[in-house]
Amino acid sequence: MQLLRDREQELRERHGISFRITGVATLRLGWIADPNGLDPEACVDRTLLSDKRRASDQEPTTIRTWLQSAQADILFEATSLNVQTGQPAVDHIRAALEHGAHAITANKGPIVHAYRELRDLAAAQGKRFLFESTVMDGVPIFSLFDQLPAIHLQGFHGILNSTTNVILSEMENGLSFDESLKKAQALGIAETDATHDIGGWDAAVKTAALITVLMDVPVKLEEIQREGIRGLSGEAVRAARKEGRPYKLICRAKKSESGITATVRPEQIPLTDPMAQIAGTSSYIYFETDIFPGLAITEENPGLYATAYGMLADLVRAVTR
Ligand SMILES: NC(=O)c1ccc[n+]([C@@H]2O[C@H](COP(=O)([O-])OP(=O)(O)OC[C@H]3O[C@@H](n4cnc5c(N)ncnc54)[C@H](OP(=O)(O)O)[C@@H]3O)[C@@H](O)[C@H]2O)c1
Repeated sequence: MQLLRDREQELRERHGISFRITGVATLRLGWIADPNGLDPEACVDRTLLSDKRRASDQEPTTIRTWLQSAQADILFEATSLNVQTGQPAVDHIRAALEHGAHAITANKGPIVHAYRELRDLAAAQGKRFLFESTVMDGVPIFSLFDQLPAIHLQGFHGILNSTTNVILSEMENGLSFDESLKKAQALGIAETDATHDIGGWDAAVKTAALITVLMDVPVKLEEIQREGIRGLSGEAVRAARKEGRPYKLICRAKKSESGITATVRPEQIPLTDPMAQIAGTSSYIYFETDIFPGLAITEENPGLYATAYGMLADLVRAVTR
């Protein structure tokens, strides 16, 4: 919301896009809508939104009535990740597309659990289903491949989870696993419940999303061999760095005649590999294609706006194509 406001003038003057925010919804606030536009100040202030909700006795109670009340042209979906089902994001996106709105999400769940259905629904409705923020924040990964027609992706590897990368970096600097996790949480990188990150789930969902969309193979999460970093001690992590083969949580996928093999697990990486230098919140991906044998992208220390930027860029793609 803040980035939208920050770039409002630029969107209008350079891209011909003007907008008004007609709905906001969260689990605790409920569904707030006003087709005439909500006060932009109120949209970033939960107290003002609560006041607005209390002042109205006719607020919608479901995603579908909310979309109708808001007369939404675009939905930005950013609910929490449900690794096992992709809900409620799948239902939210389906409802938005059926309503006739573009659907933009930062949530990886719908890609893994319902990509083909939502892609085909968007096409049938003449709308866009876009999700650039789901992997490496707002870095153009999926839209890069839109610019590479008729290319074949044969494999990829990378570091896609910042929480585990921060924890491993801090363990190398002398902290224990628990101290490193606390530091990542204090920095606001790791969530209070960091189980998804530490167990490799977040990285596995991202790997599955890349395989599903870029290799067009709807891989199931359980088909990805997954191991998190919980089993690594501070001593092991420091010894690995000392011997010049530091630990990193690596995502890999490879296409072969027998199908796709995909793994997420801690690996010791030689210092000659660029992945050994990816520290803290940075991310990295290396694509192997039949045209470009190696195509790599590094995201250095993303700031707070990185994920929001991916959604804003999706907005521009959706309405200007
Ligand atoms: N944070 C990042 O850097 C980042 C980067 C890339 C992708 N993502 C993805 O973006 C999404 C949001 O991330 P986050 O860190 O903001 O997650 P979060 O802290 O869990 O916040 C999720 C938001 O969704 C709302 N919500 C949850 N369930 C809902 C429901 N059933 N109906 C309506 N609203 C609901 C919550 O409402 P309340 O506030 O009322 O509880 C909260 O505002 C996640 O899917 C995440 O994986 C995040």
